[in-house]
Amino acid sequence: MAPPVVDAKYKKDIERCRRDLRALLAEKNCSPLILRLAWHDAGTYDANSKTGGPNGSIRSDREYAHGANAGLKIAIDILEPLKQKYPGLTYADIYQLGGYVAVEITGGPSIPFTPGRPDSLACPPEGRLPDGGKDASHIRTVFYRMGLSDKDIVALSGGHTLGRAHKERSGFEDKPWTSNPLKFDNSYFIELLAADKANLLKLPTDKALVTDPKFRPHVEKYAKDEDVFFKEYAESHKKLSELGCKYTAPQYFDSTADPTSSAALLYSSGIGVIATAIVAVAAYAYESSKVAAKVMKKA
Ligand code: HEM
Repeated sequence: MAPPVVDAKYKKDIERCRRDLRALLAEKNCSPLILRLAWHDAGTYDANSKTGGPNGSIRSDREYAHGANAGLKIAIDILEPLKQKYPGLTYADIYQLGGYVAVEITGGPSIPFTPGRPDSLACPPEGRLPDGGKDASHIRTVFYRMGLSDKDIVALSGGHTLGRAHKERSGFEDKPWTSNPLKFDNSYFIELLAADKANLLKLPTDKALVTDPKFRPHVEKYAKDEDVFFKEYAESHKKLSELGCKYTAPQYFDSTADPTSSAALLYSSGIGVIATAIVAVAAYAYESSKVAAKVMKKA
């Protein structure tokens, strides 16, 4: 599909949608699941064939049925009312904006969002997303295919500061990676370097970040300095969320670069306070599997 025209109305709708996402994700405690949706939509990108990527195709019956996407229909259904409310916005933009908001409202960095992603229903071949049971060379094969680097791999793996595994979805133990799975911070890297704990998860691919000599320095850097992690995570996340979108660049609009936009004002004022408050309230109420079960029953 052709990219959307990012005019004044589109930009306004992006800002309205951003506000709705903040409320929706906080209400449903589903930031981790929405971040996983955004990543799985983008992470199918193949730089050689220029197929896959952040194009909303994960909503197609065939793609969300891929094994790696188990559980993500719930996230697709949670975001559908926003598409109904803002029909001019593409699914691709709504899903990626959801990922940005998920990181931001849980205390992570605010990433400048550039809209204009075209939608597609072309389903990429199954098997493009990483398998958590594998090793460093597998992770490299998958992320290098997207055109991403070792630094991107380690920084983006920090997304596991949020959320947890669900046995019925991935087959991995029902555990979070960190002691507060609704707070975006550098604790994922601190835990990676610490001794295994019975209540926390480390996938074989997480452990590979510590044992691989090229990944490990990034892990140590992020464990030591959260500011550096946030800066480098924001760069890598933006790259991931724009894979294959360069040709639409002239139409792109960076809402945080416009000092009169509500987003820019928020970034410079209260968003940190809002994020901290939401995290504090939500931390003990994180029961995404229960929410998920309810939504599944409704669907
Ligand atoms: C080597 C790369 C990666 C592997 C092998 C991997 C694997 C997994 C697995 C197995 C789960 C558990 C799913 C479930 O049972 O519900 C998961 C969850 C999650 N992943 Fe990853 N992942 C990778 C990279 C990423 C990246 C790059 C991000 C985001 C930037 C991310 C964000 C998340 C989040 C937020 C969850 C929690 C979802 C929830 O709580 O419902 N992952 N990942």
